[in-house]
Amino acid sequence: SGTATINRKGHLEIGGCDTVKLAEKYGTPLYVYDVALIRKRARAFQYMFEKLGVKHQVAYASKAFSSVAMLQLVHEEGLSLDVVSGGELYTAIVANFPAEKIHFHGNNKSEEELKMALDHQIGCIVVDNFHELHMLHHLCQLKNQKVNILLRVTPGIEAHTHDYISTGQEDSKFGFDLQNGQSETAVALALESKFLNLLGFHCHIGSQIFETTGFLLAARKILGKVNEWKDIYQFTPEVLNLGGGFGIRYTDEDKPLPPEQYVEEMILEVKRETKRLALPMPEIWIEPGRSLVGDAGTTLYSIGSRKEVPDIRKYVAVDGGMNDNIRPALYGAKYDAIMANRADEKPKEVVSIAGKCCETGDMLIWDLPLPETETNDLLAVFCTGAYCYSMASNYNRIPRPPVVFVENGTSRLIIKRETYDDLVRLDIPYSEKTTI
Ligand code: LLP
Repeated sequence: SGTATINRKGHLEIGGCDTVKLAEKYGTPLYVYDVALIRKRARAFQYMFEKLGVKHQVAYASKAFSSVAMLQLVHEEGLSLDVVSGGELYTAIVANFPAEKIHFHGNNKSEEELKMALDHQIGCIVVDNFHELHMLHHLCQLKNQKVNILLRVTPGIEAHTHDYISTGQEDSKFGFDLQNGQSETAVALALESKFLNLLGFHCHIGSQIFETTGFLLAARKILGKVNEWKDIYQFTPEVLNLGGGFGIRYTDEDKPLPPEQYVEEMILEVKRETKRLALPMPEIWIEPGRSLVGDAGTTLYSIGSRKEVPDIRKYVAVDGGMNDNIRPALYGAKYDAIMANRADEKPKEVVSIAGKCCETGDMLIWDLPLPETETNDLLAVFCTGAYCYSMASNYNRIPRPPVVFVENGTSRLIIKRETYDDLVRLDIPYSEKTTI
């Protein structure tokens, strides 16, 4: 669905750039982002809202992949931004992202982070719990400043995805429970505060979701409560934020819906339900992360060593691994890959791709059909745009790879490769006899 093709040399090409040349120019491992595909996804999420004339904000969940250039691209495409920490907010500020389009999430925002958000007058704070509600009220009182808030509620829905990334169920660390009165108390407290301007509600039911049912159920549950509360509090929400979590295709096993379909079904459900309950139609906000950048990212690795366990398995090792992609080790995530320098050749053997970390669990792909691999072949692992760079680490003191944007035949470095000096930058010597 992106701009990836195979050129006449039999090389994988992305955004009109030959991946073999990219690897020569920037080295490996290397993250390559197909900018045209990010733009296409951004437009697809906004399209249905515009077509159906529904007020909306599509906020990119920057935890999926944040960098100054990335956030500039997100702004260029007219999206809003979801940040979840002082660091993500700081990145947005450095990128000159319009403050009024920034939404701040998190289940344990510190006082310092909330102050930073207030200082920059960001568009909205998604309040997660009573501690935060009180702290935010007091901070606003001190500054005599008003702030827009959403209340994050937990609708009690089991999204069908990995346990670690499922967040809407009742037993979750996030949000005010919708079922047991917590949310209602939060509404009452927010409405009492002169400084908190309650715009509405937020929920996020999980990640890598392939059906619309959970989103629609969440919307119905929230609107049902809104209907119960409207006469008690004389309040109806201006905004309903249904979160992110739209699934993407990592391998053939995954069957995601097009972005337009998630959005259309959400809109129709909220319209139906508000009409039935005689509630005003709220703005609908969503927060896609993975589905905006996931399949736009490809990681290029060089193939190094090889080990055969006779009759059992062929291990082929690459120059990266769980440092730059923790998802297989952490979630059992599956990826697809091809040989980028011989992309036109048929598979000849089945190999398992190992990372270079000193850890048995550092395996990127099991049982991958490839042409016979040779040292220095270039492996392209697809769909590494979300939660790979952003979750990368320096385990084994391995420097993080660089990131390039490719579009219309040009490549641009947007994050430099870390150096060994970067790795020791924060170290304080114990002895004076050192070279730092
Ligand atoms: N909004 C909220 C409040 C979230 O917590 C998240 C993700 C999103 C939006 C964006 O979800 P997305 O559209 O990207 O699925 N590290 C895991 C994913 C964790 C997602 C956490 N929250 C992974 O690699 O699969």
